[in-house]
Amino acid sequence: MKRIAVMPGDGIGVEVTREALRVLEALKLDVATQHYDWGADRYLKTGVAVPAGGLEELARFDAILFGAVGDPRIAGGEHAREILLGMRFGLDLYINLRPVHLIDERLTPLKGRGPAQIDFTVFRENTEGLYVGMGGNFKRGTTDEIAINEDFNSRKGVDRILRAAFEHTRHKVRRPDGRKRLCMTDKANALEYAHGLWRRAFAAMQKDYPDVEAQVLYVDVCAMEMVRAPERFDVIVTSNMFGDILTDLGAAIAGGLGLAASANIHPGQVSLFEPVHGSAPDIVGKGLANPLGSILTLALLLDHVGEPAAAARVERAVKGAVLAGQVTRDLGGSLATSACTDAVIARLADGDAAA
Ligand code: IPM
Ligand code: MG
Repeated sequence: MKRIAVMPGDGIGVEVTREALRVLEALKLDVATQHYDWGADRYLKTGVAVPAGGLEELARFDAILFGAVGDPRIAGGEHAREILLGMRFGLDLYINLRPVHLIDERLTPLKGRGPAQIDFTVFRENTEGLYVGMGGNFKRGTTDEIAINEDFNSRKGVDRILRAAFEHTRHKVRRPDGRKRLCMTDKANALEYAHGLWRRAFAAMQKDYPDVEAQVLYVDVCAMEMVRAPERFDVIVTSNMFGDILTDLGAAIAGGLGLAASANIHPGQVSLFEPVHGSAPDIVGKGLANPLGSILTLALLLDHVGEPAAAARVERAVKGAVLAGQVTRDLGGSLATSACTDAVIARLADGDAAA
């Protein structure tokens, strides 16, 4: 039996996680779920975002299904940072895998591009870089203030995300022409020390993967190419901050944040699955939230915990619903959150017939 911790969080995180759980239930798999109420309400009540021993407890699950955190009552967003970045760092989830797969050409703002051209995966380093919180403010609040956030890059940290991306490219990229392309993107022209390390590590590892077409691009060029010629990418690997930025761009060209799914992985240990969108407090309670990002996130989770057939069923069902226009308003449809999920669940059976 697989054990899944469920952490809906705040805002529409609660709404979309409920929908993903309905899909999970419909699949009738051998899983047990346990609910965690980490989020704004609990933080405001207790002053604690991550309870003592919480991460150790999570480490005993096979996976965590997460919604979103963020609440207007906590303007600085400290509980959100503590929970989300706390899990990424505390559980050492060094791979942030974010697919950029367009389902329907009507959903991309890019002219003349369809699912065949927008179909790649971003490997974002998830435990280092500008996110480590090294730095500080000197003479804070004065006109002489100095503010520093260090870009932290270790050879081990860089090597392990590059290795994961090379392995994924070798084993998971399936194209009709058989090519397997991995692009590492950085800013080595300006950040010669930190990103010079990425360049050297990438060049060294490339020798182990003669079957992979390895390429490097500066991140500004990469952003441009994602818009100009997204078909040139199969897998992109990059540092934490650049991955954050590029994956919002990726979501935009693949149908918007409402569809974007992500996995925070440490192979062999508990991993965390979350839709890329946030808690969207402005649309809470209106039936407007798009559940498909969370449902596609569930598919990533299922694949990771050894249920690839169930994952494929869910993906097929979502694809069918999107192509049929059975979607929420952000995607041009008219369905409310739970009606969109109903459409997906109804299509799970079609998936069986096709399989
Ligand atoms: C994301 C988000 C987070 C990040 C924020 C909420 C800290 O933007 O998951 O992409 O920057 O990683
Ligand atoms: Mg982001």
